[in-house]
Amino acid sequence: MATGKLTIGIMTSGGDAPGMNAAIRAVVRTASANDIDTIGIMNGYEGLMNGEFKPLGPRDVGGILQRGGTILMTSRSKRFMEPTGQRQAIRKMNEARMDALVVIGGEGSMNGAYTLSQQGIKVIGLPGSIDNDIWGTNIAIGTDTAMNTIMDAVDKLRDTASSHQRAFLIETMGRNSGYLAVMAGIVCGAELVLVPEVPASVDEVAKAVEDAYKRGKTHAIIINAEGSNVRTTDLAEAIDKMDVGFKTRMTILGHIQRGGSPTAYDRLIASRMGVKAVEALMEDTHGVMTGIRGRGVVYTPLVDVISNKRKVNEEYYHMTKVLAR
Ligand code: F6P
Repeated sequence: MATGKLTIGIMTSGGDAPGMNAAIRAVVRTASANDIDTIGIMNGYEGLMNGEFKPLGPRDVGGILQRGGTILMTSRSKRFMEPTGQRQAIRKMNEARMDALVVIGGEGSMNGAYTLSQQGIKVIGLPGSIDNDIWGTNIAIGTDTAMNTIMDAVDKLRDTASSHQRAFLIETMGRNSGYLAVMAGIVCGAELVLVPEVPASVDEVAKAVEDAYKRGKTHAIIINAEGSNVRTTDLAEAIDKMDVGFKTRMTILGHIQRGGSPTAYDRLIASRMGVKAVEALMEDTHGVMTGIRGRGVVYTPLVDVISNKRKVNEEYYHMTKVLAR
């Protein structure tokens, strides 16, 4: 890095995730402890291109550790995918004398970070996404909170499902990833889990519901990931018309999964990765994403992050079937 006082830009991008604020706080305060200035970039890559910047000091990030969402706001930017958008962003960074950039976000955001790093910008990525579909980390910021939100909702739905002896089709988020659905299947005790990675049919779901009824269960819980090949509304309608023992109801959990106060675990990993991001820049490490592996925080080159796909864990997927007996 250049000598003299350093300035780091920080932004959140893509879908928000609980714990992003904890990460922002950790970056700002670690920077401050090391005599580095931080500039907050509003609205993700859109704000970077527009120069929506504001200085952030330790007091500006007080009282945000426990808050969901992101104080820096976020966006999904199409404009930044174009070279003109990227040029504009780099120009704005230079005008503000930013030496480096910390990007907190999901897969798309890491793609943007990699693009900038290819153009000479010193970038560190922090994985933030409830979907937990990012290569290079066991878990992303926000996933644990979303899991707990799902667990709370499904526990409640199971109460009413049991009282009425019904089958419930419950949709979790996850456009391209079955992570949340599979984990929900284990921690909430689902009869069947549908994921984008494994195609399913209405008949398969109907059979799982009927089997649950025959085995004497008082309810059937089916978790359908948003990105599976069967739409929850279609499934619910089709199965309700079939004679499978239980009548059917459905619930789409939707964006409720993205909000709320981060869990202790999310606050912890966000804080650890935020500290590590600044430490990386201080030792002139960049073009990497921080991640949690084993007990440590590790760096993975952004090129690896964006060129690998994280698949659903087959062992866990298998477990959902065994435990549904
Ligand atoms: O990327 C996280 C995610 O929550 C996905 O699971 C979901 O498909 C998507 O964001 C929804 O995005 P939006 O808030 O833009 O509708």
